[in-house]
Amino acid sequence: MKKIYRNSPKRSRPSKKIIWFTGLSGSGKTTLGLKLSRYLRSLNFSSIYLDGDDVRAGLSSDLSFTDASREENIRRVAELAKLLIEQTDFVIVSTISPSNALRNLAKKIVGKKLLGLVYLSTPIRECMKRDPKGHYKNANLGIIKNFTGVSSKYEAPLKPDLEIDTSILNQRTSLLKLKAWLKLV
Ligand code: ADX
Repeated sequence: MKKIYRNSPKRSRPSKKIIWFTGLSGSGKTTLGLKLSRYLRSLNFSSIYLDGDDVRAGLSSDLSFTDASREENIRRVAELAKLLIEQTDFVIVSTISPSNALRNLAKKIVGKKLLGLVYLSTPIRECMKRDPKGHYKNANLGIIKNFTGVSSKYEAPLKPDLEIDTSILNQRTSLLKLKAWLKLV
């Protein structure tokens, strides 16, 4: 099927991309990743969304949250994204991927040019306030071990391709920023 690039027919079509969201739990990765995926589909691009929670419920259900397990988890997600991008225009990944080493591993697996890193820099106090799954409460009580931002560290990316703080920008403005970065507006 011929792709119709609806919004701006004069512009050239963006190239394939793996859009990799990193940020703390509760920073807005799932919300924005899903919104972006839906938006791309509305433009007639094909897009696959991969969420950390879903991967951990199946493909990575044998893994924990130690450094070694997180590395294996990111390796699997990156290998999967690499396979999927062969057959789709966009792959959107939402995983905490808490260190530069892990994000570099993902880049190495999928290829540096293909991966666009989006850092959701929403501060931890806001993520804790949102606490949609009650994980921060349990992590602070010591019920969940090695919880990112509480008992396991999150290292901010050195050079993200895009940074969005969802405590400052609402969903609409955040999505606009993503569209502008992808040259879709
Ligand atoms: S990553 O560090 O390996 O990239 P990933 O994104 O797959 O993490 O999984 C994060 C999700 O797992 C969180 O959104 C949260 O719901 C859940 N989770 C459970 N335990 C932990 C933990 N100790 N640290 C972080 N997230 C956890």
